[in-house]
Amino acid sequence: MDTQHCVTLRDVLEALDNIQGLVHMTPVMSCSSLDTLAARKLSFKCELLQKTGSFKIRGALNAVKKLSAENPVAVVTHSSGNHGQALALAAQMSGIPAYVVVPRTAASCKKSAIRAYGALIVECDPTDESRVEVAAQTIKETGGVLVHSSQGPAVIAGQGTIGLEVLQQVPDVEALVIPVGGGGMIAGIAVAVKALKPHVKIYAAEPLNADDCYRSTINGMLTPNLLPPDTIADGVKTSIGPNTWPIIRDLVDDVFVVTEEEIKVATLLVWGRMKLLIEPTAGLGLAVVLSKRFQEVTSNVQNVCVVLCGGNLDLGNTDWLLAKQAVTRDPAVGEAALQ
Ligand SMILES: Cc1ncc(COP(=O)(O)O)c(C=O)c1O
Repeated sequence: MDTQHCVTLRDVLEALDNIQGLVHMTPVMSCSSLDTLAARKLSFKCELLQKTGSFKIRGALNAVKKLSAENPVAVVTHSSGNHGQALALAAQMSGIPAYVVVPRTAASCKKSAIRAYGALIVECDPTDESRVEVAAQTIKETGGVLVHSSQGPAVIAGQGTIGLEVLQQVPDVEALVIPVGGGGMIAGIAVAVKALKPHVKIYAAEPLNADDCYRSTINGMLTPNLLPPDTIADGVKTSIGPNTWPIIRDLVDDVFVVTEEEIKVATLLVWGRMKLLIEPTAGLGLAVVLSKRFQEVTSNVQNVCVVLCGGNLDLGNTDWLLAKQAVTRDPAVGEAALQ
């Protein structure tokens, strides 16, 4: 089966070697009140406490380390989000210039974060076509190498190191719940976990409003989102791609979708109960665990690890929270948010 996949366990083990000591082995936390709500034992892999505030540094650093042998003049990517920051820091750590293509409409705090890690920002129009075009132009002009946010094998392998750590930190884990955007994180984790402990379930978490992974699985073929998705989970607006789809198709046990309201409720629960300031994308995993379908189809799975993938929240833009529906609709959340 490995022959159809662009990443193997060996690549993930090599990635761990490349990044160990340079990124955090993030803690795993538990919360008894959330165990009660979920009616099972939950553990939370806290990648919000990772360098740059998300797991993305794992893949970016592995990719830059592997490229370093070829002395690249620069690395280039298009991402206004967590991968842009991660690649900027990874390149800075390796002394390589980084160019990050960002829509001119991106929040200024995001641009500042990328600049703070030493990368140069190249602005583009706020469309997918423009991002790809301007990145290609930047590569042409600088001679740099593209580090894609989710489809590069070295990026996928780097994200897979989360799986190696979870198996070590939660030896009796029975399932992992992982948010999916381009699919780099879930693909890397699935390769590592299924090779070492095939009985451990790998579950994908997606917003209903950005459900390309779910639809791809149902259709048995890669089915990207046709329109730009409208979801509060902005880290997972991207669709899975040609390198991550075969791994997801073969190794992911099930895909669960949740509504915007469920994502908000779960995010507020983690803030309130665990005192962890996750971004809404990281609320996806708990939202899935608390959802009706998950409760129904996984009742035999007791020890579940939820990946809290990031904590890069735009604190200047919490209108969704001020709307308060999520706080008032569920008494448990109301209580949690008021603690
Ligand atoms: C916080 C966060 N979680 C999840 C994802 C999705 O990761 P992937 O694209 O590897 O599926 C992203 C991607 O940017 C992210 O920033």
